[in-house]
Amino acid sequence: MKLPVIIVNFKLYEQATGDNALDLARIHEKVAKETGASLAIAVNPIDLARVAEAVDIPVFAQHLDPIKFGGHTGHISPDLVKEVGAYGTLLNHAEYPIGLETMIKSIERCREVGLFTVLCANTPETARDFVKYNPDLIAVEPPELIGGDISISKSGPHIIERAVQLVGGGRVLVGAGIRDPEDVTIALSLGAVGVLLASGVTKASDPYLVLQGLVSGLKQT
Ligand code: G3P
Repeated sequence: MKLPVIIVNFKLYEQATGDNALDLARIHEKVAKETGASLAIAVNPIDLARVAEAVDIPVFAQHLDPIKFGGHTGHISPDLVKEVGAYGTLLNHAEYPIGLETMIKSIERCREVGLFTVLCANTPETARDFVKYNPDLIAVEPPELIGGDISISKSGPHIIERAVQLVGGGRVLVGAGIRDPEDVTIALSLGAVGVLLASGVTKASDPYLVLQGLVSGLKQT
């Protein structure tokens, strides 16, 4: 996956599930093709297979379980996530925290099956502690800003700086409240290699326009 990247987490917003997930995924693909920007999406498990089949941009699971084939019920299999064409997975999102042991096993299973991992951390210090588990990227998102109108870029630039300082360059995504080009530009100028966002796109009346704006923010840096 090319960096810098904008990853949009569809969560379970109604505007981003079912047929809407497919439409929204195609809008992302269109913007990626038109602009050459690196866009990726994270989709709920029910829609994952058909979205991954329909679009030619990286599609992530929002979560998976560190299991193998066998006697498991209701789990999300890394092997199947890979098989349906997903590129990778988010892990330990603030809305789906997992314990340390599960996290370590999940990253290992993803490596075995060839899935890219974006491990989420609430703080720069936690992100630093996660480096040793060797996820592909670490996304720092202050939970209190998630879903709100105040972005990490505008209200917490020091958080971004600290995360980049503690984790090292080239591996940090930031998210929470990201919704305009300036948010993207600030994040990248402070050393992040991308942003993770949701409501700014999924709840927008015109996601195509919003995505074009976010991409313009990528290009300012
Ligand atoms: O996974 C991204 C997310 O937690 C940030 O959400 O709505 O603040 O962009 P939002």
